[in-house]
Amino acid sequence: MTDSTRGILTPYDINGLHLRNRLAVAPMTRVSASETGHASVAMAQYYARFAQGGFGLVISEGLYTDQQYAQGYRCQPGITDAAQAQALRTVTEAVQAHQGAMFAQLMHAGALSQGNRFSQQSVAPSAIRPKGEQMRFYYGEGHYHLPKAMDDEAIADAIAGFAQAARLAVGQAGFDGIEIHGANGYLLDQFLTDYSNQRSDRWGGSTLNRLGLTLEVIKAVRAQVGDAVPLGVRISQGKVNDFGHKWANAEVDAEVIFGTLEDSGVDFVHVTEFEAWQPAFQEGGESLVALARRYAPKLALIANGGLHDSARAQQALAEGADVIALGKAALANPDYPNRLVGKLPIKAFDGEVLGPIADIKASELAL
Ligand SMILES: Cc1cc2nc3c(=O)[nH]c(=O)nc-3n(C[C@H](O)[C@H](O)[C@H](O)COP(=O)(O)O)c2cc1C
Repeated sequence: MTDSTRGILTPYDINGLHLRNRLAVAPMTRVSASETGHASVAMAQYYARFAQGGFGLVISEGLYTDQQYAQGYRCQPGITDAAQAQALRTVTEAVQAHQGAMFAQLMHAGALSQGNRFSQQSVAPSAIRPKGEQMRFYYGEGHYHLPKAMDDEAIADAIAGFAQAARLAVGQAGFDGIEIHGANGYLLDQFLTDYSNQRSDRWGGSTLNRLGLTLEVIKAVRAQVGDAVPLGVRISQGKVNDFGHKWANAEVDAEVIFGTLEDSGVDFVHVTEFEAWQPAFQEGGESLVALARRYAPKLALIANGGLHDSARAQQALAEGADVIALGKAALANPDYPNRLVGKLPIKAFDGEVLGPIADIKASELAL
């Protein structure tokens, strides 16, 4: 073990939940549930490998939260009723059997929905067609649909969906904690983002107003799961359909967003950037990790984005991250932590595994 790996392998607690090290698997949608959103046997095997390989924490792929507008993708797992929760229980048990903790990522796709068996219509803060094109590796094609602007009732339903999903996740599916997906261009980020949120009511306008839906979801989820359950939110600038987006007010926005989250009822914030060590805004400035640490000093901080090199990960820890989440590197090395301990080489990620459809491949189930 070198100096740059030692820190990552030390234990860490989030709201009383013990993690055996600071390495987490980042949430990754793999469209491998049934058409009805029930988790599959392959998913249990796939997720178990990360715990077996030494990861302290596994964050699930985005789970859709209601039977109206939340589902984003065909064969995405959902957590909207007891049967879906029961199916996910086999996944959490498989991870926990190998001393891994598992968080449920709760996701509402909003305008980025490209496959929802409950509705052909998508919803969003405003009726603005999303930038970019649907993702082919999640069975999509062509432009996104034109969404319908959400009225107060639709907003209340979406909040209630997150709350019920959180209750099912903890009470029935056996997850150890909850991550609310506030990032990457999905519904909560559509509200936060200036150009996709053109509302003139309480949910639009200032950065704080645009963060309002995320704050209400946090409040509703916390009320359901109680104070003892680890709860956090994922935040990003970039989006799956607008990779290079930056917050218009730069560090002022970072202060509003992280400073408000600090007292919102979450235990952790999970920041993700394409390359998490890069300056968040102008050349030579601080990273989003450093800014999150500065403005949310009490929260546990998970950092993600190109941190598979252990020197980079160490840098993120030095800037204030508590846990490092790995995406593609975990796919290539489900035993990444054990490889660090054993000084075994880290394999490069091969994008083939996600093509033509990003579902779990048989090669990922072999031990
Ligand atoms: C196949 C795939 C699926 C993803 N699905 C999700 C998801 O469901 N929720 C989410 O928040 N991020 C998702 N992401 C983003 C990753 O969590 C992560 O932010 C990204 O891969 C960058 O981290 P990395 O450089 O360690 O790979 C996905 C990424 C990949 C490659």
